[in-house]
This record gives sequence, structure tokens and C-alpha cells, in this order.
Amino acid sequence: MPKPVNICVVGSGYVGLVASVCFAEIGHSVICVDNDQSKVKLLQDGGVPIYENHLPELLQKHLSVGVHFTSDLHAAVEQSEAIFIAVGTPQGSSGSADLSYVEAVVCEIAQCVDSYKVLVEKSTVPVYTNEWISQCMIRYGVTRHLFDVVSNPEFLREGTAIIDFLHPDRIVVGANNERSAELLRRIYEPLTNGHYYAADGALPGSLTADNPAKLLVTSAQSAELIKHASNAFLALKISFINAVATLAETVDGDIEDIAAGMGLDSRIGTKFLRAGLGYGGSCFPKDVAAFSWVAQQQGLNFQILEEVRKINENQQDVFFNKVRSALWTLRGKKLAALGLAFKGGTDDIRESPAIVILRKLMEAGCTIVAYDPVAMDKTKAVLPPSTSMHYASDPYAAAADADALLILTDWTNFGCLDLARLKETLRFPVVVDGRNLYKPSYMLEHGFTYASMGRATTHTGSIGKEGKRRLPGSIRIETLVEGLEAQTDTARQEA
Ligand code: UDX
Ligand code: UDX
Repeated sequence: MPKPVNICVVGSGYVGLVASVCFAEIGHSVICVDNDQSKVKLLQDGGVPIYENHLPELLQKHLSVGVHFTSDLHAAVEQSEAIFIAVGTPQGSSGSADLSYVEAVVCEIAQCVDSYKVLVEKSTVPVYTNEWISQCMIRYGVTRHLFDVVSNPEFLREGTAIIDFLHPDRIVVGANNERSAELLRRIYEPLTNGHYYAADGALPGSLTADNPAKLLVTSAQSAELIKHASNAFLALKISFINAVATLAETVDGDIEDIAAGMGLDSRIGTKFLRAGLGYGGSCFPKDVAAFSWVAQQQGLNFQILEEVRKINENQQDVFFNKVRSALWTLRGKKLAALGLAFKGGTDDIRESPAIVILRKLMEAGCTIVAYDPVAMDKTKAVLPPSTSMHYASDPYAAAADADALLILTDWTNFGCLDLARLKETLRFPVVVDGRNLYKPSYMLEHGFTYASMGRATTHTGSIGKEGKRRLPGSIRIETLVEGLEAQTDTARQEA
């Protein structure tokens, strides 16, 4: 391993914490700084504030050896050569990224620079942020030769962030001089020369000592644009396949077959062609908006990104209408909801389509019983338990006596439920799957009415718990009465 670099990472969130433990994993000495004292204390005590595969093991392996946690930014900066900025860059009101946290951190760093430092943009920031950071440092009195600012965007997917970091498709460095570029090359050398992959205990992935990581050095502006353009393109791919799914359904096509057929073209590829509830998370929604804003600032109309956003937001209505079509009326219905996080493999509920859809269903008079393997605690903070919102200990407890089961997050185990047990547990065998985790024919064989995205709904005569037989296309007399009552209520209110 090359000589360890002293690294400071500011921000111990989904990006900063992963970067800190991974830099320690490849041999560097890391101080991770956060202004949330409770989070720092938790980390110092060996706690893990977020759900990420391999994070607990790496934290345990490197805590107080290769990585230390503190809220003392000054001390951390003084001891470090490279300072990675990984604080939040949430969407601002105009769609632009809110860089106030970045600016606050840069101003603090500026007050404790007494030797050459390289500031590294790890957070996703709009183009020219590099320039702004330089100006901020000079404004706070740091002489120009004592610092450089480089861009080193992250391409981590939540749920696979550790492996994405250690086995990257590419490492991008945006530097405006060789001195700062060389420090970043040194930092990533264990990955680019392959030594990490040959080391004992290295986490396995797609890369090996013979096939190490690639590092691209370009200008700061180009590196900043690579990040925004990459995320916007991935979001576009998702909105495109969702738009094709809506069309496919009108002609009785099957979007899963269509995506498979498209993906066999090596120029298209199979990844990010999964129709569903639309993209969520702390990145795509804000990065599409930020990229559009950047273009507007340059006097360009990036209309395609507006369409990407519109299609994405429409997916939630598409799913809501599927639930209503499956049940005819929603008032008073009890729905089991599997999945709360914005995708499987994470506990992050930021911009989660599941949360938006559950809110709309409760507004329509439904009662929800939700289950998610790891995201329920975070969800209870925004959707506290109430008469219309309940939480269950497992998928079958959520399904107990429910009028339908909704699949909202693509957790693997939601795709291999015990269907016989599920059918016994539900009031009626109705599943509305926002993530296409099952084949329609398979659900039909097991006696379910199964609605999904971009595919025809399977209708089956369903025998409910009361033993009453529902003929294909039939509706229960109670549902009919409920519907008439609902209409009467509405008419009374209007009168
Ligand atoms: C964030 C952005 O969302 C993402 O787009 C960017 O690529 C990386 O930074 P994330 O790690 O998810 O990603 O942010 P978040 O989970 O909000 O963590 C930010 C951390 O920085 C928090 O722990 C916060 O307490 C800390 N922070 C924030 C500071 O330490 N100082 C500050 O001034 C502001
Ligand atoms: C994304 C980018 O992939 C990553 O490179 C960047 O650094 C941060 O943003 P992340 O948001 O963690 O990562 O998750 P990702 O796996 O990209 O999924 C984003 C959203 O798109 C999720 O809501 C997911 O459910 C959805 N998605 C993804 C689809 O709907 N269909 C797909 O085929 C893939």
C-alpha cells in the first residue's frame, strides 16, 4: 500500500460515512467530522446511523484505528492534507441545489488553513461550484497558493454504496492543476493499481488486481457536469421505460418482455430499465432539477428534463388509479403496504414514492398497515402511527384481513412470499404490485387478482375469507352498497 494520506471527510451521512470507512479500508487515515453531536457520539460508540450493506463490519474494523469521528472541524482540517466535503446539497426552492451547507463548511475550513490543503467536492454540486469555493476561501483570507479545490463526484447507489465505492465503474477527478490531481491519484492508488483487490480481507466485487479501477482526470467543470449528466441520464432512462410501460398496457404488451428485448441491445443495456413507481431518493429528483436549473442559468432550455420529471411524478397517479380500479371504492378499505423506503436495500425514505402514495390513499379514506424491513423507524417520524396508519412486524401481519396488498418497494423478500399463506391471510386475494416482482401468470395460477406496471391485470374469480365466490369481473354487494353510500355522501356534501 502507498503512503497513507491524512484525510478529513466533512459530513457523516450516506455519502460521507461510506467514503470515510472506505478510505480507511484502502489504507488511509481518516477523520470524519459532523456538526450533529448525537450522530458523532453514536459513531464513536460503534453505532451505525444508516443501513448499508458491509458498513457495520467496516466501521467495526476501522473504528479508532483508520477512522475517527469528531465535531471539531478545526483540529481535523489541521491534521489533514485532503478535505472531502460531503454535506447535504438538498434541492432549493428554484430547483437549484441549496449550497448553504457547503458554503458554511468552506468558511469554517478557511479559518484554519495554515498549510497546503486540497478541498474536494464529494457532494453533488452544480458546475462552477469549484470556482465559488475558491472565491470563498480567498474572501476569508486564505492565500491562493495554500489551497486547491477539486471535484471528485460520488456515484454511490444506496444499498450498495460500499461496493460501489470499492469497485467503481470509474473514478472522476476534476482538477485545474497537476499538484492537486496527483494527491487524488495517491488517494485512489490502492484501487487503480489493484493492490486493494489482492489484499487479505478485501471486499469482493467486479474489480480485481488484474482489472483495477479506472481514474479519469479532467477539468473541475467537466467533472461536475459528468455527475449531473450521469444522474439525469439514468433518470431519463427510468422515465422512458415508465412511459413505454403506460403505452404497453394500452396494447396488452408486457413491459418486462419489452425491457428485456430492448436491453439485449448492448447499446441500451438492461440496467435502469425497470418500470415501477418512478425514481425517488435524495439524488435523482434533486439532481434532475439542479441540472435543469444549471442549463437555464446558461440560457439553455433543457426541456427533456422537464418531461423526465413529469413522467416520473405521473407514475404515482398511475399506481393510485390501479389501486382504485382494483377495489372500485377506497373509503374504508384496509390496505397492506409492503415497502416504505425509496427502493429496496436501504432505510432511506427521502423522496420515496411509497410515502407519497400512502398519503394519497389515506386522504381517500383508506387505512394502511405497512411493513418495511428497515425503514419503519424513519417513516414513523413522518407518518406517526394513527387510526389510519399502522405498522406490522412482517408482511403477513400487514396482510391480515386487508382488502388488498400493495408492493411499493423492491425488497427481494417481497418477491418470494408464501402465496398460499398470503391468500389465506388477505380478506380478498388482490395484489397491486408497483415493482413487478411477480409474473402475472404465476399470480393467476395462485388465484390472485394481480395488477402491476405496464402489464395487463389478471382477474380471477376469487373466494374471499367469508367463502363468498366472486365471479370474474364481479363486485361484492357490500362494495356496491359502499359505492352508493360514497356517492350519497358526496351528493349530501355538495347539497
Ligand atoms: C449528500 C447529498 O444529499 C448528496 O447529493 C451528495 O452527493 C452528498 O451529500 P447525503 O450523505 O445523503 O448526501 O447527505 P446527508 O445524509 O444529509 O448527510 C449530510 C451530513 O452532513 C449530515 O450528517 C449532517 O449532519 C452533516 N453536516 C451538514 C455537517 O456536518 N455540517 C454541515 O454544515 C451540514
Ligand atoms: C443514484 C445513482 O444511481 C447513483 O449513481 C448516484 O450516486 C446517486 O443516485 P440511488 O438514488 O441511491 O443512486 O439509487 P438508484 O439505485 O439509482 O435508484 C434510484 C431510484 O430509481 C429508486 O427510486 C429506484 O427504485 C428507481 N429505479 C432504479 C427504477 O425505478 N428503475 C430502475 O430500473 C432503477
